[in-house]
Amino acid sequence: MIQSHPRISKAVIPAAGLGTRFLPATKATPKEMLPVVDKPAIQYVVEEAVAAGLDDVLMVTGRNKRPLEDHFDRNYELESALEKKGDADRLAKVQESSDLATIHYVRQGDPRGLGHAVLCAAPHVGDEPFAVLLGDDLIDPRDPLLRRMIEVQEQHGGSVVALMEVAPEQIHLYGSAAVETTEDSDVVRVSGLVEKPEAADAPSNYAIIGRYVLDPAVFGVLRQTEPGRGGEIQLTDALQQLAADEKIGGPVHGVVFKGRRYDTGDRGDYLRAIVRLACEREDLGPEFRTWLRRYVTEEMQER
Ligand code: UTP
Repeated sequence: MIQSHPRISKAVIPAAGLGTRFLPATKATPKEMLPVVDKPAIQYVVEEAVAAGLDDVLMVTGRNKRPLEDHFDRNYELESALEKKGDADRLAKVQESSDLATIHYVRQGDPRGLGHAVLCAAPHVGDEPFAVLLGDDLIDPRDPLLRRMIEVQEQHGGSVVALMEVAPEQIHLYGSAAVETTEDSDVVRVSGLVEKPEAADAPSNYAIIGRYVLDPAVFGVLRQTEPGRGGEIQLTDALQQLAADEKIGGPVHGVVFKGRRYDTGDRGDYLRAIVRLACEREDLGPEFRTWLRRYVTEEMQER
């Protein structure tokens, strides 16, 4: 059944976490600003939102918000220096991030969890469905996920989460979803969610990854949500409420993602993202691949 509601145009990007897994790099810099090859992780995320047609971006920032705001703002000094040098390529790179989208900012005073970060967006979002993109989660632009999620939300209403099948020993790192199949092979109905369960308690190996399309009813639920795992207000706990009672904000569906995704807040995944994206780059790739091949061969011989 196609339901009529406003086109989704708002994206919320939480980027106020402490990033403790990446200390000391994240002591004075948000982890979302760590470069993936030569662009900060967060720029890939904003580009993804814009590519999915979301032209109103709200970033939830925390104590180290300055670098984030500066990155998406003009830098006249740098621009004029590059102009004087006639370096048009680099000038375009500098201007790219400030021309990308209109970005609004809201501050999350205390990092009280992802659910709390999303709740900080309530006054800006108002009463319409919206997307959430975690600022440290990269989805390869060649494997579009958000557009499909928006389509599913427009079809079914309610909320949509992104799910990825992970190995059982990995599920304790994620929220896990209890699911039922639907007539679309890439879409499941979510009947329950558990944040970071032990493998034995996980309802499935479907892990929630960092993309959501949410019904605004989630705000009301988040206001009532007590701190959960880790003492933080968990978005997963609020989504569990929505999944358990469709009357609150419609059903919860999941889009099963099989593409390339990197959690840049995790050091191993961060390194893999850089190696992979560098290998694929036209400018850096050929030389880097040659070096990498030689390095791996020599490493294998030594071990
Ligand atoms: P993470 O779960 O990765 O938390 O947040 P974290 O605290 O930043 O990282 P670690 O575990 O200490 O290394 C997922 C996303 O939610 C944001 C983070 O910035 C990240 O983009 N977040 C998390 C907030 O905006 N506020 C919070 O209170 C918590």
